[in-house]
Amino acid sequence: MEDSKEIREKVLGIIGLGYVGLPLAMEFVRAGYKTIGFDIDVKKIDKLSNGEIYLKHIQEERVKDFFNSGLFAATTDFLRLNEVDLVSICVPTPLDKYRQPDLSFVENSARAVAENFKQGAIVVLESTVYPGTTREVLLPILETGGNKLDMEFYLAFSPEREDPGNEKFTTKNIPKVVGGLTKQSRRKVVEIYKTIFDEIVEVSSAEVAEATKILENTYRSVNIALVNELKIIFDKMGINVWEVIEAAKTKPFGFTPFYPGPGLGGHCIPIDPFYLSWKARKFGVNTRFIELAGEINTMMPEYVIMKTISALNRKKKSLKDSKILVIGIAYKRNIDDSRESPGIKIIELLQEGGAEVSYYDPHIPQIYDMRQTDLVMSSVKLTEELLKEQDAVIIVTAHSNIDYKNIVDNSSVVIDTRNALSGIKSSKIFRA
Ligand SMILES: NC(=O)c1ccc[n+]([C@@H]2O[C@H](COP(=O)([O-])OP(=O)(O)OC[C@H]3O[C@@H](n4cnc5c(N)ncnc54)[C@H](O)[C@@H]3O)[C@@H](O)[C@H]2O)c1
Repeated sequence: MEDSKEIREKVLGIIGLGYVGLPLAMEFVRAGYKTIGFDIDVKKIDKLSNGEIYLKHIQEERVKDFFNSGLFAATTDFLRLNEVDLVSICVPTPLDKYRQPDLSFVENSARAVAENFKQGAIVVLESTVYPGTTREVLLPILETGGNKLDMEFYLAFSPEREDPGNEKFTTKNIPKVVGGLTKQSRRKVVEIYKTIFDEIVEVSSAEVAEATKILENTYRSVNIALVNELKIIFDKMGINVWEVIEAAKTKPFGFTPFYPGPGLGGHCIPIDPFYLSWKARKFGVNTRFIELAGEINTMMPEYVIMKTISALNRKKKSLKDSKILVIGIAYKRNIDDSRESPGIKIIELLQEGGAEVSYYDPHIPQIYDMRQTDLVMSSVKLTEELLKEQDAVIIVTAHSNIDYKNIVDNSSVVIDTRNALSGIKSSKIFRA
């Protein structure tokens, strides 16, 4: 507890203890609140109940403080929602197989709240959704049985802006946008949230708050697509896009750098903009930027394969029967999350092309049990012998603490999708 040792009187709850919910629970506890975490995943609840944490990027010191506080309890028992004064919902919001919003997790959580909430409870949706979800989907569920907004319960949307692994910006110091269904609902949330977060940004409605999050992630998706396209164009011209971005970012205004890569990954950027596309169609409008960005970013793994084939060709090798090692399967550096990772797609494409593929990722010992793939693989040990056996090595995620010079020295072909080898000069290196 940072600012005070006092135990505050309100009890806070979190539904969904994943990459977003668990750090949020830790912040609630740090601010001195008794906090109850709810999840349907028994394995997670068991771990937390045993004082263990499953998110590797959280510092040990913080984990110790969290459990030593005695303020946190984890449970699968949703009846305990009746002990909670404010509950934040942080459950997944994926797309279904037709690439339409799958709000089933949000709806199930809302039903659990509706059945068990304490009179006067404050409900905050934190999952990324399309504008209108809090009012159109959550409100009717919470009103079941005649409960009234701003009487029996309060309701608001406050987007999570968590960036796992970011050491500078963490849950506490990322400004927290809050939009209520009503002014009164917003005020109720702000009263508590201002004791937890460094800065609160109040907006006029839940819809504005929902749209804010979608704008942020669409902005990233579109700008990443732009540099990915420029990467292909500049490569044809023999220009290094990374050097161009380094130079462009010296402009002190009007330019924000974005970096190309092997494709988009993670729970957010590849998915969230399509929540807006779906909703926009209901208004008869197309989200052309979003569709185009999605198209460009989605074809990046194929571009990496094409560049790999061309590099192998130069060595008079074909992709079929080549041994290929993929370095880094997490969707970004230094984290243990491989959801929607382009690395998975790249492995699948290599296998389809007849290559013998292995991967190395110090943060992801195994790939299995993921929505987007049936792949089951284990990370190999990165040795000089292993590198020498490979026909090509592809760097998909540039984790730190990997000896990239050693990789180049012991490999015959290295495909670099992240500019991880920028300081190394070698004819074995191919950018993709
Ligand atoms: N991961 C990020 O970096 C990030 C950043 C900003 C926003 N978001 C958004 O936050 C939301 C959550 O993402 P996440 O990455 O934390 O997901 P996650 O998969 O890591 O965690 C979600 C948790 O919710 C649990 N859950 C599912 N249904 C439940 C239910 N009915 N009741 C209780 N628990 C339930 C799951 O078991 C899981 O533990 C998503 O909408 C996502 O778009 C994620």
